[in-house]
Amino acid sequence: MIKIDNLIVQFGGIRPINELSAVLTAPIAGLIGPNGAGKTTLLNVLSGFVKPIQGSVSLGERPLLPMMPLQRVRAGLRRSFQTEQVVEDLTVAGNIAAIADHVVGAGHHAFAVEHALAFVGLTEVADRLGQSLNLFQRRLVELAKCVVGEPKLILLDEPAAG
Ligand SMILES: Nc1ncnc2c1ncn2[C@@H]1O[C@H](COP(=O)(O)OP(=O)(O)OP(=O)(O)O)[C@@H](O)[C@H]1O
Ligand SMILES: [Mg+2]
Repeated sequence: MIKIDNLIVQFGGIRPINELSAVLTAPIAGLIGPNGAGKTTLLNVLSGFVKPIQGSVSLGERPLLPMMPLQRVRAGLRRSFQTEQVVEDLTVAGNIAAIADHVVGAGHHAFAVEHALAFVGLTEVADRLGQSLNLFQRRLVELAKCVVGEPKLILLDEPAAG
């Protein structure tokens, strides 16, 4: 599903990814490695936050690297963050709606948000502010943001951390 060819990422004198070639197949592929191995960096490359100095990545038949992050999201790719990105002064539903705004047609918006909240089990706290959530609920918000709409591929960065 994802084909990575000869990828290099360089940050100054550090090369966390050095000539990586790999095929990540459906339905689930896992990536393990010690602290600093480059796992998050790879997710950053796949989601468009870090630009490699060499190599190519394709999602199915589509070249991924020329696409901007939002184009990748609209192509069905989502990612979660290792440190969860909850907007503290929005409600739980508001946090999910902010993502749905970009990926769900207007008529399906409310249903998509409800569906994502139900899927991760956050329906009962939908109207609570982000700042009132515990760590477990914050991780679930991160997951709900990944599943809202109709993603084809979800990249999870240490979803069970904490
Ligand atoms: N934006 C950046 N600028 C400079 N160096 C970076 C940047 N992002 C990551 N690094 C460095 O690249 C290396 C790989 O980091 P990365 O966060 O990808 O590792 P990781 O495998 O996700 O580690 P962890 O298990 O701690 O999450 C580390 O040496 C890190 O300090
Ligand atoms: Mg990491």
